[in-house]
Amino acid sequence: MKIVRTISEVRDVLDDARRRGRSVGFVPTMGALHDGHRSLVRRAREENDLVCVSIFVNPTQFGPNEDLDAYPRPLDDDLAACEHDGVDIVFVPDDAELYPRALATSVRVSTLTDHLEGAHRPGHFDGVTLIVTKLFNIVGRCRAYFGEKDAQQLRVIRRMVSDLNIPVHAVGCRTVREADGLAMSSRNAYLEPDDRERARCLSQALFAIRDAITAGERDVAAMLQIGHGHLEAADEVDYLAIADPDDLHHVDHVDGGVLVLGAVRIGSTRLIDNVPVDVGARPRMPAAMSFAGRDDDDNRPVEL
Ligand code: PAJ
Repeated sequence: MKIVRTISEVRDVLDDARRRGRSVGFVPTMGALHDGHRSLVRRAREENDLVCVSIFVNPTQFGPNEDLDAYPRPLDDDLAACEHDGVDIVFVPDDAELYPRALATSVRVSTLTDHLEGAHRPGHFDGVTLIVTKLFNIVGRCRAYFGEKDAQQLRVIRRMVSDLNIPVHAVGCRTVREADGLAMSSRNAYLEPDDRERARCLSQALFAIRDAITAGERDVAAMLQIGHGHLEAADEVDYLAIADPDDLHHVDHVDGGVLVLGAVRIGSTRLIDNVPVDVGARPRMPAAMSFAGRDDDDNRPVEL
């Protein structure tokens, strides 16, 4: 496994591999790797000749009062995990490599970013689309693997890739959870034992809504009330939404696939999660928007 710190080295290695006809799988991360990240890496490993993982805690996607400084950076553990999972190249740039000076250029996706996470984290998606564009330009033609855990991020990136003709195929991978349903996240490391216990309420709320829909409930207000009942254990609820799986806007009634999303604060930790529900009343959502473990053939909710 090669550990690479400069843009030019990544380009050299990957350009050379592509010239020799080898496909590249790319997994962008901010490190503190857990089984969610590693499921992306394993899928990239299965589907490509060469796997590149980037580890970079991107400052431009954090708000001024967010957890940039506290964000976990266990680099040695991350490198060991990459080695174990058969990664070929780990790109570990420092801030100066990617942001040598203040940028005059922005990358903004104007739809899809004004609600949910976008409403609660102003500027967040601009930081994500900026760094992901830079990383895509550095890594080049590839399949890039993203988690459905960050459903809005995945949709924003797919829209950007399509709008800007970026030669990358963004592959969505299903959310990996702890045994009690909590979606894996690098931020779970912040949770004190009591917080960890309460953190279950988010997935429980989403599962309760999913189960109500599956049982035939169609009244969105009633379902949100059920969900909010579970979220009483949280310290703050940023949002709980039953949304269209394509544009993530609230739906008034459920007549096909929906995505149930939530964001809460437990102690000082902000958690997000979502669960897809397919009631099968209309054809599945288009492949580009699927919740798939395998792009579009496997987009059922994870059963616990
Ligand atoms: P990070 O939070 O490190 O996540 C890296 C990738 O892992 C993302 O695509 C995310 O959706 C996925 N992921 C995280 N938890 C997951 C889980 N429990 N199951 C499945 N996939 C999971 O997302 C980012 O970093 C950054 O915004 C980044 C895209 C790297 C840009 O800086």
